[in-house]
Amino acid sequence: MPTTTWNRHHVLSLADFTAAEYNTVLQTAASFQEVLSRRTKKVPTLQGQVVANLFFESSTRTRSSFELAAKRLSADTLNFAAASSSMTKGETILDTAKTYLAMGTDIMVVRHREAGVPNAIAAEMDRLGVKVSVLNAGDGQHEHPSQALLDLFTITTLIDPASPRLELLKGKKIAIVGDILHSRVARSNIWSLIASGAEVHLAAPPTLLPKLFAEYICEESEVRSQELFSDSPTPQLFLHWQLEPALENADFVMTLRLQKERMTAHLLPSLREYHQLFGITSTKVQLCKPNVKVLHPGPVNRGVEISSELMDDPEFSLIQSQVTSGVAVRMALLYLLGSGKA
Ligand code: NCD
Repeated sequence: MPTTTWNRHHVLSLADFTAAEYNTVLQTAASFQEVLSRRTKKVPTLQGQVVANLFFESSTRTRSSFELAAKRLSADTLNFAAASSSMTKGETILDTAKTYLAMGTDIMVVRHREAGVPNAIAAEMDRLGVKVSVLNAGDGQHEHPSQALLDLFTITTLIDPASPRLELLKGKKIAIVGDILHSRVARSNIWSLIASGAEVHLAAPPTLLPKLFAEYICEESEVRSQELFSDSPTPQLFLHWQLEPALENADFVMTLRLQKERMTAHLLPSLREYHQLFGITSTKVQLCKPNVKVLHPGPVNRGVEISSELMDDPEFSLIQSQVTSGVAVRMALLYLLGSGKA
């Protein structure tokens, strides 16, 4: 493992992540990627520790890859699914967390449909003075740090497989397209990509651009970079109500699922029109750099935010390698949080 300082006790958001922390995660994940390429893919690092996956909201890849990551590190895993738990009998979230604490859980991986639940559990653990770490696996429309970190790992390892690091994205043009309003993935990615010095272009219909960002749009040109992040030396966030300017010469395109389950109003005329205007297709990626790569956190609405053909095209699509990277990145996070507890 790379020698490093890691003082973080919980991973709840990327808003205050430092460049050194990003690089620690990337380098640690690269070491675990190597472990995962061996015949014996398991290391004894977290032997005896308990990782509890507390998923109060549905998940396929995030839950499974956290579970596999924990198992590859030899931790014992507990899986909780709200629908089949005592929450149906009225138990509260904090009481559920305390139940897992009483069983000796060391790391809680928490997903919830409401923003702030992982923070609330972390605050309760800190209040109780226990050493339990909390990892946010997606909270409402707030953040999804491990997804953004695995996206970062996927694209930086593509550029330099031997040494993925934040600086590799400096000056790269990255488009984030789709349902930004409801996307915790976009929010976490914006933090990491801004920190890398990449040029980040958000493209969505006005109804799907969050108010926080919409107020910065320049009426005349519909595009304007803004000092959203006051401590960032060169703010490089651009907003577009059309797809084309975001795609032009882009190095990477991150597509986002239309989160129909979170839509409380009619934000789109029709899925067909959305696909026509903002769906990423083989034709539209021709606007990008010739070697552009397309990402999607999954699950995908095929033929809506991305065409089926492009999604399955190995020349452009990084979707499967994002899933593969997810295990190494989550091993890195569990290792960094868990190794101090032994
Ligand atoms: C994302 C999520 O749940 O936030 N998916 C994921 O974790 N792989 C994105 C989504 O649901 O669209």
